[in-house]
Amino acid sequence: MDFKQIFNAAFEVEASAPGRVNLLGEHTDYNDGFVLPTAIPQQTTVYIGQSLNDRHHFYSAELEEWIDIHPAESTPPGFARYIDGCIRVLEETGYSIPPINLFVTSAVPIGSGLSSSAALEVATLRGLRSLLNLDLDDVTIAQLGQQAEIQYAGVNCGILDQMACSLADTEHLLFLDTRTLDRQILPFPTEAEIVVIDSGVARSLASSGYNQRRAECEAAARQLGVKALRDISDPQRVESLPEPIRQRARHVITENNRVLKAVEGVSAKTFGELMNASHRSLREDYEVSVPALDQLVDLLQNTSGVYGARLTGAGFGGACVALVAVGEGKAIAETVLKQYNNAGHQGNILVD
Ligand code: GLA
Repeated sequence: MDFKQIFNAAFEVEASAPGRVNLLGEHTDYNDGFVLPTAIPQQTTVYIGQSLNDRHHFYSAELEEWIDIHPAESTPPGFARYIDGCIRVLEETGYSIPPINLFVTSAVPIGSGLSSSAALEVATLRGLRSLLNLDLDDVTIAQLGQQAEIQYAGVNCGILDQMACSLADTEHLLFLDTRTLDRQILPFPTEAEIVVIDSGVARSLASSGYNQRRAECEAAARQLGVKALRDISDPQRVESLPEPIRQRARHVITENNRVLKAVEGVSAKTFGELMNASHRSLREDYEVSVPALDQLVDLLQNTSGVYGARLTGAGFGGACVALVAVGEGKAIAETVLKQYNNAGHQGNILVD
């Protein structure tokens, strides 16, 4: 199916955005901290034309789902809420958006922690920018996408995903300070590439667990008398806090330190060790791992050619990322997947 078959007319603009994988800096963005994502090859593409009546019409090729909505009606559920959310935040910013027809097709896996929703938001906003000649830069697009996610998808997220989908490419790391939005495009560690494997476990508790972690971090920052946990670099300072916020704060502080270490231009080996330490911290202190992710990370970490591995994204399921020796990604991914699936799982390779 394509736009023409669905809407019986030609589309006017086309826009794409990639998914992202975060290498280090997990659950730091809503603490004003540091992140280090890269874009993945899979993209989401939208095709847009003006609607011929007073309703928006959205069609998802992968879900084979059709949503049609009057701008005065409330936001629909499912994939449409991200698109409708983007239209609404643009309207709240003062732009007037006519009813549109939008066809979306996406290769970004859904529910694996690779930001399929941010890719859809950024692609939609880019499409509307060119359709209506809106004066929006890539950072503003990321901020609007984040607002759409918070207000219309109910996840009180940080800016990591939308900044990565809007500004990262597949050949570099995007080192981002989420407080100032200062950023640097950095090379991968030498002689290294990435592998991403989906655990096959859906991120069931993701949004409730996520919002709870965020609230715990805010409580920790309040008790420590700082604006955000980003303002603390010495992990010893958490010792005065009660559990569980002591553990949560320790994860955030040590994770920020790991990102800052990784961008000093360290070797692949050191970078990998930072990723391993990040997984441990996410599992023990932040408690967002699940047994299947731990098993997958364990298999990766014990495979020759792997520098380091960790869960990526919010956790509670989804994918793992590994830093591996250049040229060996495919073979490593296949070996590990076989072992993992032989243990009764249904994983699959997303990037190799
Ligand atoms: C989700 C959120 C991001 C970030 C990560 C965890 O992907 O959307 O803002 O907090 O989880 O690092």
